[in-house]
Amino acid sequence: MSSVCDKVAVVTGAGSGIGRQLALELARRGARLAVSDINESGLAETAGQITAIGAEVHAAPLDVSDRAAVHAYATTVVTQFGVVHQLYNNAGVAGLGNTVLENDEAAYDRTLGINLFGVIHGTTAFLPHLIASGDGHVVNLSSLNGIMAQARSSDYCASKFAVRGFTESLRAEMLLDNHPVRVTVVHPGGVKTNIATASLAYAQQQGRAVSQDRQARVRNYNDKLLKMPADQAARIVVNGVEAGKPRILVGSDVKAVDLMVRLLPRLYPRLTVLFERRTLSG
Ligand SMILES: NC(=O)c1ccc[n+]([C@@H]2O[C@H](COP(=O)([O-])OP(=O)(O)OC[C@H]3O[C@@H](n4cnc5c(N)ncnc54)[C@H](O)[C@@H]3O)[C@@H](O)[C@H]2O)c1
Repeated sequence: MSSVCDKVAVVTGAGSGIGRQLALELARRGARLAVSDINESGLAETAGQITAIGAEVHAAPLDVSDRAAVHAYATTVVTQFGVVHQLYNNAGVAGLGNTVLENDEAAYDRTLGINLFGVIHGTTAFLPHLIASGDGHVVNLSSLNGIMAQARSSDYCASKFAVRGFTESLRAEMLLDNHPVRVTVVHPGGVKTNIATASLAYAQQQGRAVSQDRQARVRNYNDKLLKMPADQAARIVVNGVEAGKPRILVGSDVKAVDLMVRLLPRLYPRLTVLFERRTLSG
């Protein structure tokens, strides 16, 4: 029997992509699900798919960047299920794809507000309940860009390197204080989701200038880099969680990058620029 069977698992950003597939994979393995997303229609679709699997589900709209809302949500989930065992801080956005010179403060506020503070809010709101469960697990989604930085991604890289640091510090604390909570950081490589297209759509909605070059880079990202199906990524994550892994690398691309950054710490920025010129530019 799966070790997540009968566990209560919270998944943020479950309305699409990896979050949806994580929720479905956990449901198939017998977990009870609390799912949330800022996108209510995507969330309703996920909830319907979980119900069709036959698993218990509580679905609620949630903006993870809203600290008070996340803390109120944690109270609601605990009231509903009586206990919470696993938290998947998955909700996230791609950056706007600008250089540091082009970016304004609002771009940093948004990306860090969702990708980093969303993880911090989720963790602080649920941690006392995870400890109380006697068998807790925090799973935070970082990225390949939490291991390797690249150009035009300073907001995204800052958020994902920070998620890694936050998560590894939390793990040390749980060990230091003998709390019954395992802590995992996940670094996906390219996964076939809507993340890059959604950030382009957001920029357009905001009336920001979106150059032809930016559009070509998003197309190239989608076609050349975001390859692994999201359900496969979710299986790798849940398998890693079941095995109690502290660090999960999802995909051969991120494994190669991890090695490159360790072996070539001074050379790798030049290699990423070469890669960017050859693969991503329009
Ligand atoms: N797809 C990849 O290649 C990839 C690679 C590395 C890391 N990741 C990370 O995986 C996670 C999931 O991304 P994905 O690829 O499935 O993207 P996605 O766009 O398919 O899903 C992200 C979900 O988060 C939700 N969301 C966005 N802002 C939110 C907010 N403020 N509050 C609550 N929900 C919000 C979106 O509505 C969406 O449903 C993200 O943290 C992302 O950074 C993805």
